[in-house]
Amino acid sequence: MAKQIATNVVWHDGEISREDRYQILRQKGATVWFTGLSGSGKSTIAVALEKALHAMGKLSYRLDGDNVRLGINKNLGFSEEDRKENIRRIGEIAKLFGDSGTIALSSFISPYRGDRDEVRALHEAAGLPFVEIFVDCSLSVAEDRDPKGLYKKARAGEIKNFTGIDDPYEAPQNPEIHLRSDEMSLQEEVSIVIDYLMMHDIIRKEYYTRADDRVAASA
Ligand code: ADX
Repeated sequence: MAKQIATNVVWHDGEISREDRYQILRQKGATVWFTGLSGSGKSTIAVALEKALHAMGKLSYRLDGDNVRLGINKNLGFSEEDRKENIRRIGEIAKLFGDSGTIALSSFISPYRGDRDEVRALHEAAGLPFVEIFVDCSLSVAEDRDPKGLYKKARAGEIKNFTGIDDPYEAPQNPEIHLRSDEMSLQEEVSIVIDYLMMHDIIRKEYYTRADDRVAASA
């Protein structure tokens, strides 16, 4: 848990509640957290899921390892400490997205169980759904895919601390969803996630009806 350094700071509530925001968006916020090896398919599934949610009229936003590391986390590397800070910041950002009413789709290797559990606890304390998805793919398949050529470089010793090669990956023990990305089709994976979100009432076809829609309907 990161230490609170600033003192004399208190949370300042606004006058618009989370429920008010949900009503405008006609959906609830949540975090869908993909974890798995580099090349396991996290980002590919998140992109396809974002498209499927968009088609259903649901607002989601992708937080992606590489993208975030080019921006807010550009000052972090791949040491255990930096990966921990990477995940802590993303966890906080995902929580803010959820609080705004957006469905955050987060794709990070997030190799350490303890770091993911802290993000889960953060969401639970905030009353926001947290859906951990294990994108499970054997190292040999991820390495064969090697979309960015990084496994090859890691094997050649040109990249140090590469997850799965000379750095650990701690698989989730009890994820909400377990996808075998080396066996399932992308379509199958997306529909498993959509079904879960519907079954757990995180998304509904119509979550809220706007007052003016009700007026229109009764007119
Ligand atoms: S995490 O471990 O801190 O969660 P994150 O998902 O943000 O990692 O970034 C992983 C991406 O960074 C990989 O998909 C890969 O493209 C790139 N990368 C560069 N160096 C490494 C490394 N040493 N280990 C893992 N991924 C790396």
